[in-house]
Amino acid sequence: MLTPMRLGVCYYPEHWPESMWADDARRMVATGLSRVRIGEFAWSRIEPEPGRFDWDWLDRAIAKLHGAGLSIILGTPTATPPKWLVDAMPDMIATDIDGKPRGFGSRRHYCFSHPGYRVESARITRAMAQRYGNHPGVTAWQTDNEYGCHDTVLSYSAAALTGFREWLAARYDDIAALNRAWGNVFWSMEYRSFDEIDLPNLTVTVANPAHHLAFRRFASDAVAAFNRAQVDILRALSPGRDIFHNFMGFFTEFDHHAVGSDIDVAGWDSYPLGFLESFGFSEADKLAYARQGHPDIAAFHHDLYRGCTAGGRWAVLEQQPGPVNWAPYNPAPLPGMVRLWTMEAMAHGAELVSYFRWRQAPFAQEQHHAGLLRPDDEAAPGLAEAAQAAKDIAMIGPLGPPPKSAALIFAYDAEWVTKIQPQGAGLSALWAAFDCYSALRQMGLDIDILPPTAAIDGYALCVIPCLPIVPDALLENLSHFTGQVVIGPRSGSRTGDFAIPGELPPGALFPGKVTRVESLRPGLQHAGDGWAAAHWLEHMESSADGELVAGDGTVVSWRSGNRRYLAAWPTPDIASTLLHTAAAEAGLLLHRLPEGIRLRRAGPYIFAFNYSARPQILPGDIDGDFIIGARAIEPAGIAVIKI
Ligand code: GAL
Repeated sequence: MLTPMRLGVCYYPEHWPESMWADDARRMVATGLSRVRIGEFAWSRIEPEPGRFDWDWLDRAIAKLHGAGLSIILGTPTATPPKWLVDAMPDMIATDIDGKPRGFGSRRHYCFSHPGYRVESARITRAMAQRYGNHPGVTAWQTDNEYGCHDTVLSYSAAALTGFREWLAARYDDIAALNRAWGNVFWSMEYRSFDEIDLPNLTVTVANPAHHLAFRRFASDAVAAFNRAQVDILRALSPGRDIFHNFMGFFTEFDHHAVGSDIDVAGWDSYPLGFLESFGFSEADKLAYARQGHPDIAAFHHDLYRGCTAGGRWAVLEQQPGPVNWAPYNPAPLPGMVRLWTMEAMAHGAELVSYFRWRQAPFAQEQHHAGLLRPDDEAAPGLAEAAQAAKDIAMIGPLGPPPKSAALIFAYDAEWVTKIQPQGAGLSALWAAFDCYSALRQMGLDIDILPPTAAIDGYALCVIPCLPIVPDALLENLSHFTGQVVIGPRSGSRTGDFAIPGELPPGALFPGKVTRVESLRPGLQHAGDGWAAAHWLEHMESSADGELVAGDGTVVSWRSGNRRYLAAWPTPDIASTLLHTAAAEAGLLLHRLPEGIRLRRAGPYIFAFNYSARPQILPGDIDGDFIIGARAIEPAGIAVIKI
């Protein structure tokens, strides 16, 4: 990065009396913030009645913020279509899997496939871009807000049904081809025309997995098309401005690589404590990291979203500043965590961290969600930490080029396959990726999470945790890859139409044939030396060598040349055993890190972060000038070492 990371904040001028705006802007700048994101939920104030725009307040808000020295990221307000629009077009409402409408009164109540809403989305985007597209204070746009939040990608509406049939006709052309590809002869599911096909909900038992996968692809394409329509308008009317979207954590319902390829900066919204509580972490981790978040949550997403845009540009568009309101439990972060999260984003190459939100709102849905300020306008604890981070960033200055050591391959359709057909409770390609990622991070490695079509030259290690559908580009890239390769279970196990390939998996990925798979209930396992194969086991016929072999003789991983195949689920103990061997063989420098310590290299710097609730000492093999912190790091503390 040639320019140091910027700090910003999410601000809602429409929530506060105009008399507060100037002072808010002044205090933002005094804190060290230079970006402010506004507007993304303000449709009812921008266009209070159909066709009657009220720009004056927004003109004045933008002028105040810009006048104080802030650059504005302006959101298109399409996540919150106003009541009058919903009433004029009631069938724009999304429909849930049980066929029930998802009504007005919160947000994200629209269906991506509704042609009328697409017209409205383009209309309001055009109106905003015409008004502010060349404003010197508006330097970037955010499209919509968190596509898919509140489970809104899959809508089972009439509009979705029409769109799906058209999408299928375009993809398969001939209904006989679709019947063949899906295997519809099974249970007499054959269709005579595309117009006979329904959405895959409300069936008696599971619908055909090929039907589910096609519907997910269609829905993902609808999100990408919805976004692209806004992007096209913004590019035409607001030249030279960056386009962001704010993606979410542990969210896979649409293909973020596809949406990412249309925008400039992949933003994401980082709520480590909320994510720890809301997702499938162990009770022990939930307790140990309750006030810090699991040490790999934020970094995993930093490294994932960096791989989502062509230029590798990414940002944290919303950063947790204190307790949130939406997880089962919402503790306050340890003192220091807001600064730590900010500096970790910097270490991973973010161009911006923007806190959500400036001031806690005393009304409506998020009353318990912290801001940098309290509702009474006094400083909340996050404010001083943001100010400290601003000083740290200025002191460190621009970072050098990011490291290139381990590539981890993740595809969104991998998670769709394991969701549609888990075969064993809780088995998920996303979590296989997370557990492999975490194992690599615990060795102190730097990781890029890449789509399966990305170039992998120059990496020492390539890990493919679980990739059922393998694109030809990956096979081609692997064929001349000289680093070490680790391939996880279920890889190469499905065709693009959700069938078992004729030659049996893993196909060209690895010499061998998986002849049988079984999932293992808790307690069934095949134990080896310091690890146990659990949850999933593949029986393979192969000329390769067995590497990890359980005490009972079960081969759990295979080895052939520079490739390894893991025939069991990459649980944390197996992932760390196997990946440690592969990473060492790849020549990567591995560290033994104390519990909760994580590292990230950037140019001449090593950043170290203490996620543990205890003070920790950095190992002696990490050495140089400590420009921030010291070898002993307090809980929630950081150290920055120049080597
Ligand atoms: C995000 C959303 C914000 C706010 C925040 C609360 O999902 O984009 O608008 O609701 O969560 O944590």
